[in-house]
Amino acid sequence: MLETLKPQPADALLALIKLHNADPRPTKIDLGVGVYRTGAGDTPVFGAIKAAERLLLETQDSKAYLGPEGDMGFVHALIPHVFGADFNRARVEGMQAPGGTGAVRLAIEVAARAGAKRIIMGTPSWPNHAQIVAAVGLELKTFKHMTAEGTADLEALRAALADAAPGDVVLLHGCCHNPTGVDYTPAQWDEIAPMVAASGVLPLIDLAYQGLGDGMEADAYGLRQVLAAVPEALVAYSCDKNFGLYRDRVGAFYVVTDNAEALAIAMANGATIARASWSMPPDHGAAAVRLILGDAALTAQWSQELFAMRARMAEVRERLAAAQQIGPINMAPLGAQKGLFSMLPLSAEQIMALRERHGVYMAGSGRVNIAGLTTGNIETFIAALADVAG
Ligand code: LMR
Repeated sequence: MLETLKPQPADALLALIKLHNADPRPTKIDLGVGVYRTGAGDTPVFGAIKAAERLLLETQDSKAYLGPEGDMGFVHALIPHVFGADFNRARVEGMQAPGGTGAVRLAIEVAARAGAKRIIMGTPSWPNHAQIVAAVGLELKTFKHMTAEGTADLEALRAALADAAPGDVVLLHGCCHNPTGVDYTPAQWDEIAPMVAASGVLPLIDLAYQGLGDGMEADAYGLRQVLAAVPEALVAYSCDKNFGLYRDRVGAFYVVTDNAEALAIAMANGATIARASWSMPPDHGAAAVRLILGDAALTAQWSQELFAMRARMAEVRERLAAAQQIGPINMAPLGAQKGLFSMLPLSAEQIMALRERHGVYMAGSGRVNIAGLTTGNIETFIAALADVAG
């Protein structure tokens, strides 16, 4: 039977980790998978997480099962940070998920069970979005996320929503758009919220980078505008980036609705999907986040660490933007883009030349994780880019 299986290509993004690790050149530069790096090129565990882990070690008295919803203390502790301190608590319920990917999978599976047929999504997007939609068996309808000028294309979203049919879900990136770094502006969100409401589609907001753009509150602006305008929505959340918990897989799936009965039933559906998929999410990272958010001093420490990440990424973006023009590439817009990612208009040959000649690793789409650039390698990267694109 097994010989009938079709070969599968390795996940292109995750394959970069191995390719980069295998490169013996000490000057190699990793701009691939989305992990934050310090100015020294490391991805350390947050100090606040280490402190919470110590607390966990001392105080956790059981590792007995929690259930398919995971740590509800964690799920609820995030609510004011994500939805706002004054959000109507009766409208929202959630459950823990294994990372942002698990949360997106739960959201799309629940939408499918509710009758969703099609996901409307701006492209380019995080490649796994399309893979998850396909795995759940829904149709994908795409629209262009960016204008030729490199701004977020509100008109393309407007047209996609105008064309929407019953059973459609629109997937929106809450902030730090992956892969372009081009977010909707607050003024655009002000238009998007009533537009989504008028279209009648179910919004699914993927918020995987809250705090890496302009701050926890500012990065939730779009999500909060949309949720204030619509009767129901789904939210996929990740703590993998803003708490640096990548491999611990810490995410949450939230349902927002004015209908209390539908809320309970949606969560019950989420729980049965979880049970048949991973049974229960991994506990450790979520428990650490719960401890941080339940302690003012640890919350302050974590906020400070998140601030330092933003400040460093702003410096990197400033330096990249200062390069102005590298051959045909206009670098100036990178200064205003948000989060870990930006996209460079490079051909497959140029991306391969960067890898082979200069040891620079980036996604095949031209996406670069700007956090892979440090004071020690940014000039090398700019020179390499000039070499292949200049
Ligand atoms: C990325 O886009 O690089 C990250 O979100 C890692 C992943 O799971 O793809």
